[in-house]
Amino acid sequence: MATKRLPKSRTDLLDEIAPDVERLYNRHLEAPRLWYPHEQIDWGTGESFLDRPWSESDYPLSSGVRSAIYVNLLTEDNLPYYTTALYERSPAGHPIREWNNQWTMEENRHAMVMRDWVHISRCIDPTMLEDGRRVQMKKAEVPHPESFADMITYVALQERATQIAHRNTGAKLPKDDKMGRNVLALIAGDETKHYLFYRDLAQAAFAIDPSTMMISAAKQISAFAMPGTGIPAFTRHAVRISREGIYGLGQYLKDVLGPVLALWDVEHLGGLSAEAEKARLVLESVLCKISETVERMSQKAASSAAVASAAL
Ligand SMILES: [Fe+2]
Ligand SMILES: [Fe+2]
Repeated sequence: MATKRLPKSRTDLLDEIAPDVERLYNRHLEAPRLWYPHEQIDWGTGESFLDRPWSESDYPLSSGVRSAIYVNLLTEDNLPYYTTALYERSPAGHPIREWNNQWTMEENRHAMVMRDWVHISRCIDPTMLEDGRRVQMKKAEVPHPESFADMITYVALQERATQIAHRNTGAKLPKDDKMGRNVLALIAGDETKHYLFYRDLAQAAFAIDPSTMMISAAKQISAFAMPGTGIPAFTRHAVRISREGIYGLGQYLKDVLGPVLALWDVEHLGGLSAEAEKARLVLESVLCKISETVERMSQKAASSAAVASAAL
């Protein structure tokens, strides 16, 4: 008779996953992608804002792409609070803390290089950007998942979503902005590596304690929102970003949940507690609702496009 796995305590999971943290951290270090922020920027193309203040015509862009650059950069700025949140979920001496330091060091470069490009290219209003940064960082608003299992599940989703957002924003830049395209591609590449770390760490956690992880997955997927809720007018920017096709519910379903849930194989996971089986049902119903909403949104967009083309 097969032995049913017993639910583990929070400490059990943290203890048992330590070798996987070390394994995945070493894998991350073995695939270095060292690049220098200062080498990505063509400094000679910049102009002083004191001599010539910013104007929207400096770099024509749709409002959706401008919103994406603004939100993506402010999210990178807010990193110190994510570092703190992960520290709160990990005991002293645990290898996840070493990973956390590496992760923080890598994320910090994203804000630096992105801001350099933003200022040199004049693609968004630097005053609005700095006003947004001051407001957001004073709020220190980031998700605080309740447990370590919740934390790694959330960050796996968030790193994937961030990668998609940077990648799709870069693809919307004018072809001749090679500097901007390169900067966003480098950042998206780093986010891919972060995503792989957290995705595979969560997968290892599913093998150790499937019930706890199933409950965490149902909770985090149901409530997932892109980071940035502390950014002024975040909802307005999020709507623009979604309308632009950069990141929205459709990308969340297809590009984030699709690959993540396939790998974690939540559909076929065995040995679950009664509570975890209930969580799986909740997760299935949330996925159905998201699919229906995405379908409705795409039908609405298609009929609006048809009306617009008929009017031409
Ligand atoms: Fe980043
Ligand atoms: Fe990242």
